Amino acid sequence: MNTAILEKKASSTMLADVLEGLKKPQKTLSSKYFYDMRGSELFEEISDLDEYYLTRAELGIMEKHIHEITAALGERVQLVELGSGSSLKTRLLLNHLDDIHSYVPVDISADFLDEVAINLQKEYPDLNIEPVAADYTQPFDLPETPDDVTKIAYFPGSTIGNFTKQKAADFIGLIADLLGDEGGLLIGFDLIKDRQTLIDAYDDSEGVTADFNKNILIHLNRELEADFDVDQFEHKAVFNEEESRIEMHLVSLKEQSVFIDGNHIHFEKGETIHTENSHKYSLESFRELTGPYFNKVQTWMDEEGLFAIQYLR
Ligand code: AVJ
Repeated sequence: MNTAILEKKASSTMLADVLEGLKKPQKTLSSKYFYDMRGSELFEEISDLDEYYLTRAELGIMEKHIHEITAALGERVQLVELGSGSSLKTRLLLNHLDDIHSYVPVDISADFLDEVAINLQKEYPDLNIEPVAADYTQPFDLPETPDDVTKIAYFPGSTIGNFTKQKAADFIGLIADLLGDEGGLLIGFDLIKDRQTLIDAYDDSEGVTADFNKNILIHLNRELEADFDVDQFEHKAVFNEEESRIEMHLVSLKEQSVFIDGNHIHFEKGETIHTENSHKYSLESFRELTGPYFNKVQTWMDEEGLFAIQYLR
């Protein structure tokens, strides 16, 4: 298949997915559509904000405890990174793991994977890099390894928070299957804390998160030839106590119509599009998720108890 056909297929799946979400009583868009080029840049900017503690806290934990963490992971590891693959956290692991067998970045975007692999290979000429282009929320295969190699999945960034509780449970089960009996999962997740700290992290004073949220509409306008009037939508972040999650929405500032590839979508004034869930866990509620699949848990946290990293076996 040539790339033009692949791209066409990607955008027709996107169209069906977007229309399905926008035809629901509570309109929704998948948070994966945040991440076009501009969206990824905006997320980087978010990570630098004072209010957005997550990225800093996670990196801080990794830096402080890297020796203990890599000792727990052991030697002769096949390190399988789910998503991303170009971060400082990855490099920390690669720098400290002894006798690593291979590094397997898994991402849905083959282009992105190529870029990651090429850049990383320059920095680590001896590292055996075996990229896998796959949607890691669906079953996929790993490159084969000798018997003495431990498969370890790395899922940083509290991306697990974007899944509903049910999807998160399914995902943990899927990864446990993938790893086999001897494998392990190194995972980062965000902890429950006071409401204002959470709200501020998702509704910053500079409006970067607002731009990030609205960029999803710009992405749809470009990719699906939609005609959202971005200025007629407003960013909103709320903490849903019941579900223990931050929700981001885009609020329609007036009654309006939008056309997406000939499909008419109507908005009442004040109606919202739900664009993201970011679930917050306690150590107990996270254990409920992982307990059925992993019997050994090691936990590292920052001093303020903002964020947690666990190694599960
Ligand atoms: C990249 C999924 C961890 O949920 O905190 C940042 C994305 N959304 N600000 C999160 C995000 C709004 C972020 N994750």
